[in-house]
Amino acid sequence: MRSHYCGELPSLAEGSEVSIAGWVHRRRDLGGLIFLQIRDREGIVQVTIEPDQGAVFEAADQLRSEYVVAIKGRLRNRPENMINKDMATGHIEVVADSIELLNRSETPAILIDGHEEVSEETRLKYRYLDLRRPEMAHNLIFRTKVAQSLRRYLDDSGFLEMETPILTKATPEGARDYLVPSRTHKGSFFALPQSPQLFKQLLMMSGFDRYYQIVRCFRDEDLRADRQPEFTQLDIETSFVDEESLMSMMETMIRGVYKDLLDVELANPFPRMSYAEAMEKYGSDKPDLRVDMPLVTLDDIMQSVDFKVFNGPANDDNGRVAAIKLTGGADKVSRKMIDEYTKFVGVYGAKGMAFIKVNDRAAGLEGLQSPIVKFLSAESAEAILERMGAESGDILFFGSDTSKVVADALGALRLKLANDFELMSSEWKPLWVVDFPMFEEIDGHMHALHHPFTSPRELDPAALKADPTGTVSRAYDMVINGTEVGGGSIRIHDTHLQSAVFDILGIGEEEATEKFGFLLDALKFGCPPHGGIAFGLDRLVMLMVEAASIRDVIAFPKTTTASCPLTSAPAKVSEAQLKELNIALTAKKEAE
Ligand code: AMO
Ligand code: AMP
Repeated sequence: MRSHYCGELPSLAEGSEVSIAGWVHRRRDLGGLIFLQIRDREGIVQVTIEPDQGAVFEAADQLRSEYVVAIKGRLRNRPENMINKDMATGHIEVVADSIELLNRSETPAILIDGHEEVSEETRLKYRYLDLRRPEMAHNLIFRTKVAQSLRRYLDDSGFLEMETPILTKATPEGARDYLVPSRTHKGSFFALPQSPQLFKQLLMMSGFDRYYQIVRCFRDEDLRADRQPEFTQLDIETSFVDEESLMSMMETMIRGVYKDLLDVELANPFPRMSYAEAMEKYGSDKPDLRVDMPLVTLDDIMQSVDFKVFNGPANDDNGRVAAIKLTGGADKVSRKMIDEYTKFVGVYGAKGMAFIKVNDRAAGLEGLQSPIVKFLSAESAEAILERMGAESGDILFFGSDTSKVVADALGALRLKLANDFELMSSEWKPLWVVDFPMFEEIDGHMHALHHPFTSPRELDPAALKADPTGTVSRAYDMVINGTEVGGGSIRIHDTHLQSAVFDILGIGEEEATEKFGFLLDALKFGCPPHGGIAFGLDRLVMLMVEAASIRDVIAFPKTTTASCPLTSAPAKVSEAQLKELNIALTAKKEAE
């Protein structure tokens, strides 16, 4: 039925005989002449039918949007005045010799050629129509090409693609599990994997050495623009490697994908930044280096300022006073905008947001416009301006609170300012974030910053237990333009060290045996040193196609409340099914 995709036609010579097949994207009747736009996955082309074409004209006259057709014809260059520069095939058209109607369509719920705003709910409900839209088709085709490029690199580098179970036991990656009740073991549940972490480690213990898998992971967590309850990882594990060789290999792979698909040369090597520096300068463990607006710490200067809002946190070990500078912003940022920014940082817990407009740098305190200038001495004001490198015309924004609130608030504000004032550089900015702390203490409980199988730098269990929060881990995250696209680590390959980490995390011996006994056992039988990484494939593609939402690069995604409007999943099941699974619904009982 088809000799070429519509998008391929520009490469053919004028006069070529072609057969195309696809959907009627648009039909225009111009005083007898009929113009059809025919669409397939690779593009759209114009088909012309003249009034004297008899049966062909009659067939064209019957066509409506989204009818399915097969058309034979000849390629013709359009006259100069008919060239459409906005269309990839805009300089050619197909003169139809025959039109075969293959199927009709009701009026679609989504206009495929329209730019009207359609609600996300409607788009997901009629996803098969939504995916006909050229931008969506482009995203999904791009996605398969990204996967092909990644696979090519890994296959050529001796990695083995291996599958791991979906019905399994909980893997701790910090989210809730999706559970599946077992019919054959009543009262017992499988967990869907949050990642294949433990299985890929076991494969290293089996000697496979280099593993990868493009694999679905399941996490029942609060959803955001870049999170889905089921998402795809490019999951990788290798034996007999250290951080350096692994990171270098992964960089080469990602540079290759960018080169293949976008013809972009990413930095070589990627810069590295410690977690501590990322938090200090960018208020984030995934710094967006396209924005040059670092957080600058002012604790030492603010310790002696006579204003409690500032000297309190400045004198507190867990507190921090910092500021960011919007160069030349004094005239651009109105009072109303300051109120909006204050509200914005409030979302991150900031209780206020002092600012200083530097109207005249040479005029000392007189030259400053600010609600806090009354609390500052000439010396402290000078020290702040000096530290910030402030010049006349700049505006400074201050955060004073716990280190976390200051990092979150100013970290988010710098990105917002960069967006509002178009200060984002258009370059791609990849980096590695390294030297993560092994543990963080939240409400008196220890948590693993990465996951509990990550190796600490400190390999002596006793020393580790003596100072858990002081230990740095062997984890690394790959960040591109402020998005964490991948994360991994060198793993623990010693059973005593693994037990010590569980112990620090408050996972007792009994619980450790019950949950991870198989891993602790396996570690005893000649486990090689190993490490790996997992990339969020959806996130990587989202970044590369510059999609606004992760849902725009997934064929059948879930809504922000983790449901599927197309299939109406999740759904109720029959009493019989529940009974078979030995499940009784308490909610129902309460309702009765
Ligand atoms: P981690 O939890 O960092 O590591 O996940 C790896 C990458 O997966 C992506 N990602 C997500 N993408 C979409 N929706 C989500 N809900 C979601 N959660 C994570 C991110 C992230 O960088 N087993 C370890 C990897 C390892 O140590 O090898 C792991 O899963 O891009
Ligand atoms: P006030 O004296 O309460 O009016 O505060 C003076 C300035 O300090 C105002 O601009 C407040 O927005 C600002 N401010 C108050 N609390 C904080 C804080 N935690 N961090 C930064 N600025 C603050």
